[in-house]
Amino acid sequence: MARRKMVAGNWKMNGARDANASLVRDIVFDVKRFPDIDIVICPPAVYIDPVGQMLSGSSVQLGGQTLCEQEKPGAFTGEIHGGMLKDIGCSYVIVGHSERRALYGETDAVVATKFLTAQACGLQPILCLGETLEEREAGQTEAVLARQLAAVIDAAGVEAFKSAVIAYEPVWAIGTGRTATGEQAQAAHAFIRGQLAQANAKIAGSTRILYGGSVKADNAVALFAEPDVDGGLIGGASLKAAEFLAICAAAQ
Ligand code: G3P
Repeated sequence: MARRKMVAGNWKMNGARDANASLVRDIVFDVKRFPDIDIVICPPAVYIDPVGQMLSGSSVQLGGQTLCEQEKPGAFTGEIHGGMLKDIGCSYVIVGHSERRALYGETDAVVATKFLTAQACGLQPILCLGETLEEREAGQTEAVLARQLAAVIDAAGVEAFKSAVIAYEPVWAIGTGRTATGEQAQAAHAFIRGQLAQANAKIAGSTRILYGGSVKADNAVALFAEPDVDGGLIGGASLKAAEFLAICAAAQ
């Protein structure tokens, strides 16, 4: 089944008003070259609104990097409600990024709740799954991916993946420059798609699975050529317009 590729930039905790303005300007200037893919930018929450203003009129969509698991707004100091992300123009929100799991204690259960809350707020979750180097070296990769995915399927049902994106992000490839090979990415993506297919083959075929973890202009073509790789979730390279656009070109 043909799936429309996606390139999503996760800016993480990076950015400043002037730098954002020139980065977004350069991206918007060139993005018309890529009508056949979905391009998403996920800035830090404080910059989502101004970046959204700069993106208006372009095909680039907005995403958040996380959201509060609470379905209703209220007395949760410092938290961001999914409805607020929607209100300022987001279509997507990253859920369960390995940095949130490792640094902020987000368990599979919390990730599943955030996934449900995102959809309740009208956002498409970009659900991150991925194993650590220790887990891979212990032969646990598939067990980890199966566990992380099952937590969401059990909570939301496989139908929920009609309005969601998955990102396979091997933790050992994030920010390390040690990218997964095309074969490693394809094997993990095919496994994830196979897990979905056990519940619903049609949804498995239509769900986009992005690869994340040191995607650069010089490795994107090979990664995106893999049959079950439907684009990328880009960290460091999304902060450089030329590199991000080259990755978009690889997905086009
Ligand atoms: O969410 C994407 C991110 O984890 C990948 O980071 O810098 O390895 O592209 P990076």
